[in-house]
Amino acid sequence: MDPNLNEWLNLTLRWFHLIAGIMWIGSSFFFVWLDSNLEAPKGVDSTKASLEGELWMVHSGGFYEVKKCKPGPGEMPEHLHWFKWEATFTWISGFLLLCLVYYLSNGIYLIDPQVSNLSAGAATLVGLACLTGSWFVYDLLFQSPLAKNGKVAAAISLMLLFALIYGLCHVFSGRGAFIHLGAIFGTIMVLNVWVRILPAQTQMIDATRRSEMPDFNLGLEAKRRSMHNSYMTLPVLFMMISNHYAALYGAELNWLVLVLLVVVGSCVRHYMIVKHGQAAWVLAPVIVCLVALWVLTSPKPVDSQSYAPSRVTPSLKTTQEIISRRCLACHSINPTDQDFPVAPAGITFDTPELIEAYADRIKARAVVSKTMPLRNKTGITTEERVLLGKWLETISPIEE
Ligand code: HEC
Repeated sequence: MDPNLNEWLNLTLRWFHLIAGIMWIGSSFFFVWLDSNLEAPKGVDSTKASLEGELWMVHSGGFYEVKKCKPGPGEMPEHLHWFKWEATFTWISGFLLLCLVYYLSNGIYLIDPQVSNLSAGAATLVGLACLTGSWFVYDLLFQSPLAKNGKVAAAISLMLLFALIYGLCHVFSGRGAFIHLGAIFGTIMVLNVWVRILPAQTQMIDATRRSEMPDFNLGLEAKRRSMHNSYMTLPVLFMMISNHYAALYGAELNWLVLVLLVVVGSCVRHYMIVKHGQAAWVLAPVIVCLVALWVLTSPKPVDSQSYAPSRVTPSLKTTQEIISRRCLACHSINPTDQDFPVAPAGITFDTPELIEAYADRIKARAVVSKTMPLRNKTGITTEERVLLGKWLETISPIEE
């Protein structure tokens, strides 16, 4: 695809996706907040059995009163505001962006020969199969008799989730695995809205409009799916920005990093959902996970003895040679790599000054996380990484 067109499509989809996503997650946060801040009804209406709670808010110069009720037969107002298109448009734009960046780019970001030898086409099929298959497994589980016992269903779904994360990280490149888990969660969330939440709400509305008593159990099932969505939101938001953090997706045990980050996100969400901070205990697992993440992503001391021949002293000249052999194909004013007609991220290493200026990032990407060269397209050797690391140490000491 023409690189300029690709860039504009990328920007348009991403911008749209971000706006729709803010509207979706924003309204979902708002309703969770409403639920946990409703006060027991008082005053004139308090005798009305249908009133579950109420609250007053002040915002942008106006006062707002919200009441949560269970409308009885014939009490459904004419105008009802729904919140369904935010989720739908977030998913559509996200899926198109996934196709553009991961499926239509020769697998450059999707696969990694050091992880598996899947071709780009096969990896795309696996990706699409995961997106659809995960929904069916999840939905079947929560429709099955197993779901009657909430704890059993939660335990099974967590085990399946951890197995999925392990599998994804052993099929796709690190960033490909992280973004796929995000896309899988997003797909489950949007299908929860369309397949389980909206139909239940529609049935309840139809019943009251027919002047019948609605079956509020339908609302409970919708509420459960909406709770699941709520626990997925913070992990999804992390996964959507994860490809900026090579130390995370590029870690040796990146599947464990992802598991821990999902746990952290869900615990923080639990804290936000439970009323008035009654869930302070979740801080304990969050802190344990964060410490474990710090350890998992800390750079390992480079085993220089076993690789770098002692006769080669790292110097700017050797460094420049390595960089020109392994990096300039992409990071140059005139790149030669056919996938990157323009230097990615605008980063070029054509002169010694530029190499020195980017020393820290070169260390982070080519020595510590080994996520550059991308997919190791230019075939850098371990020895060259060690040499790069040694030279970088001389200009910016590694803190141990
Ligand atoms: C096949 C093309 C390709 C090659 C070869 C390549 N890179 Fe990159 N590089 C990319 C792409 C694409 C990005 C932007 C995406 C990203 O950050 O992962 C990037 C981004 C970067 C960044 C900026 C992002 C950051 O984390 O600061 C640095 C630094 C970098 N590469 C270093 C290197 C070094 C050092 C080498 C050689 C050892 C190298 N790259 C070789 C494609 C390449």
